[in-house]
Amino acid sequence: MKALGGTSDILPKEAALWQQLEQEARRTLDLYGYQEIRTPLIEEAAVFTHSLGEAAEIVTKQMYLFQDRGGRSVALRPEGTASVVRAFIEHGLDKTAGISRFYYLGPMFRAERPQKGRQRQFHQLGVEVFGSASPYQDVEVLCLLVRLLEIWRVQDWVLKLNSLGCREDRRKILEEVRAKLKLHRSRLCEDCQNRLEKNPLRILDCKEPGCQQVSRGIDVFESVCQNCRGHFQTVLDALKSLRVPFERDPHLVRGLDYYTRTAFEVVHGGLGAQDALGGGGRYDELVQAMGGNTAPAIGFAVGIERILMAQEKGGLESPSLKVFIATVTPREIPVALAWAEKLRARGIPAGVNLEDRPLKRQMEQAAKLGVKQALIFGPDEVNAGVVIIKEMKSGQQEKQPLSSLEANEF
Ligand code: HAM
Repeated sequence: MKALGGTSDILPKEAALWQQLEQEARRTLDLYGYQEIRTPLIEEAAVFTHSLGEAAEIVTKQMYLFQDRGGRSVALRPEGTASVVRAFIEHGLDKTAGISRFYYLGPMFRAERPQKGRQRQFHQLGVEVFGSASPYQDVEVLCLLVRLLEIWRVQDWVLKLNSLGCREDRRKILEEVRAKLKLHRSRLCEDCQNRLEKNPLRILDCKEPGCQQVSRGIDVFESVCQNCRGHFQTVLDALKSLRVPFERDPHLVRGLDYYTRTAFEVVHGGLGAQDALGGGGRYDELVQAMGGNTAPAIGFAVGIERILMAQEKGGLESPSLKVFIATVTPREIPVALAWAEKLRARGIPAGVNLEDRPLKRQMEQAAKLGVKQALIFGPDEVNAGVVIIKEMKSGQQEKQPLSSLEANEF
């Protein structure tokens, strides 16, 4: 049997890298005042169809959908924002004053065609902030994104920004883009011809040369209202003064319906076709659209697999045992095990022999584990209340009273 296509096992060696990345992220998120939220991996399908948009590809083509035993339509979560908004409203958090900052880390599911950097089960670290409409909140969120990339040793990224305006603007933009592109319908690829009616904005980020040529002159920002322009300008000015490098991308539209105003993506040249490390933006109307009070919001998510691909390697110390406890005969195993437990209780990583096998084999294992010292118990040592301490590097060994182990830091 094999893992399903587009899913993968994370074996211990790689898991150590994941743990390091997660620990670094949690420390950074603490510094910015974010708190973790964990939502279920399955949700009523409507949570996603109502928020991401009925025409969004994630909904039409990529959602893992099934009927549960009660006949409900259930989906594996394809992303985190909709679930967090659902939880935010369900627990009445939209009724409390102030700003809430959440983060989540976990698997997401999209039935896409697997390729390099694109999986069916992948992992995201996401953040969502509720309750602030300030453009400086956008800036702080972007600073957090950049800080994460720095602490993860990801270089050569490009931050792309655009503004999609408010709901009213979006409606206007949609009509204008549709009208402009309709004039060149026959030059669009088949997918984009279908998108003209349902999802014309997506044509702007189609990679087909024909579609790119047709949409080249379109800048959605031209249709954005004065207020939204002001908001975006403040964001750009603050980023400049903070020396956060960015590019304005008039074709950045994002694939989900809920975005308003600032939208962004971080791409990395070394990743190939799937070059987005992460993306996000404002979604000021989503909480209300999902049945909550008005709450402006902004967030982003990064793909952990892609971060690991883009990361400069090195610097990881894999956790290892410090000491190995060997036995001359199997009869000493209970004593050895008791000492292993005592050392572990003191926070010293210890391995212990549990098998009936020659001391030589045990020493080979100790060498392989890379421990500095081995402790050896034989029948004579146990009777005399001593232990042999062997320095693995030099091979030197000496007998010590058992009490010396109590203080030894290894
Ligand atoms: P998204 O752009 O759909 O946004 O996904 C964010 C990131 O998840 C992508 O940039 C990519 O790194 C990773 N990703 C997406 N699909 C796959 C895949 N099939 N295989 C591997 N990695 C993938 C969202 O999901 C929004 N919820 C982000 C957000 C949060 N917006 C506001 N708040």
